Amino acid sequence: MAEQSQPRIIETAASMRAEVRRLQREGLRVGLVPTMGALHDGHLSLVRMAQKSCDRVVTTIFVNPTQFGPQEDFSRYPRTLERDLQLLREAGCQYVFVPSKDEVYPPGYSTEVDPPAVAKRWEGECRPGHFRGVCTVVLKLFNMIPADVAVFGQKDFQQAAVLQQMARDLNVGMQIKIGPTIREVDGLAMSSRNRYLSPEERQRALSLSQSLNAAQAAVAAGEKRAVTLAAMIGETLQPQVDHIDYVAIADAETLEPVDAIGPNTVILLAVKIGKTRLIDNCLLSPTRHE
Ligand code: PAJ
Repeated sequence: MAEQSQPRIIETAASMRAEVRRLQREGLRVGLVPTMGALHDGHLSLVRMAQKSCDRVVTTIFVNPTQFGPQEDFSRYPRTLERDLQLLREAGCQYVFVPSKDEVYPPGYSTEVDPPAVAKRWEGECRPGHFRGVCTVVLKLFNMIPADVAVFGQKDFQQAAVLQQMARDLNVGMQIKIGPTIREVDGLAMSSRNRYLSPEERQRALSLSQSLNAAQAAVAAGEKRAVTLAAMIGETLQPQVDHIDYVAIADAETLEPVDAIGPNTVILLAVKIGKTRLIDNCLLSPTRHE
C-alpha cells in the first residue's frame, strides 16, 4: 500500500469551514463522511466512495450524545481514536474533524431539527428522540463542513432515508450518497457495536443476515406475502436472539408497512442479543415470477 500522510486533525468549526472553503476556491471537490468513530471497513468503504467523486475527504468523529437514550450505551460506546486515525491514514483520508461537545453544542443551545415523517416508525418508535439527535447533529455537521457530497451507509437504512428527506426538506445543497452494507465473511453486518458481543453471542448474531438471506430466497422463489416472510424471519431469529424489537417489511421510500412485496420493498430488523442491540436490512429485488 502506498505510504499515506497523516490526516490533518481539525477541532473547531471555524477552521474546518475555512479549510473547506479554501479547497473549493481552488476548484477541489470535498466529500464528507460523518461517523462516531470505532471505525471498521464499513466506514472506510464510505471514505472510498467519497474519494471516487471528490478530491479531498473529511471524516468526522463525534460520539453524539443527543442521539442516545438514557438507557443506551453512550458512556460505554467504543472510543478508539488512535486506531481510527491510523485506519484513515491508510485509507488516504486527508482531514479528520474531531470536535468537542461544546463545539457542536455551544452552551445554551436550544434549536433542534424535527425529523421527517419517515423517522416515525421502527427505530423512531424503539428509540424515542434518536432521529431528532441524528438530524440535529448531521445538519450541524453540514453547516460546519460545507462539503459537496456527504456519504452515509445503507447499514442504517432508516437513518439514510431520514437524512435524505431532511436534506430535501431543508434545502441542503449537498449531494447525499448511500454506500452498500459491508459484511464480515460470514455475513454479519459490520458495526462498531459488534465488539460488545461475546463469541457465543457473535455466533447467534449470524441469525440476522441468515434470516434476511432466507427471506430473499423465498421472494426469489415467488413468495410475495409480507406476513409469510415476517413469520419465516421470526422463526429463524426467535431461537437465537434475546428480543426482537421489530421485523418490518416496508416500502423503501416511505418505510410504511406493505402487505405484498413490490419492486421497492425493504426488510428491516432490530434485535437484542444479550445487552447488544443490532440492526440489519436488505432491499428485495423484484421477483422472477412477476
Ligand atoms: P456510525 O454508526 O459511526 O456510522 C457512520 C456511518 O457509517 C453511517 O452512515 C453508517 O450507516 C455507516 N456504516 C456503519 N456500518 C456500516 C457497514 N457495515 N457498511 C456500510 N456503512 C456502514 O451512523 C452514525 O454513526 C451516526 O448516527 C452519525 C450519522 C455519524 C450521526 O451521529
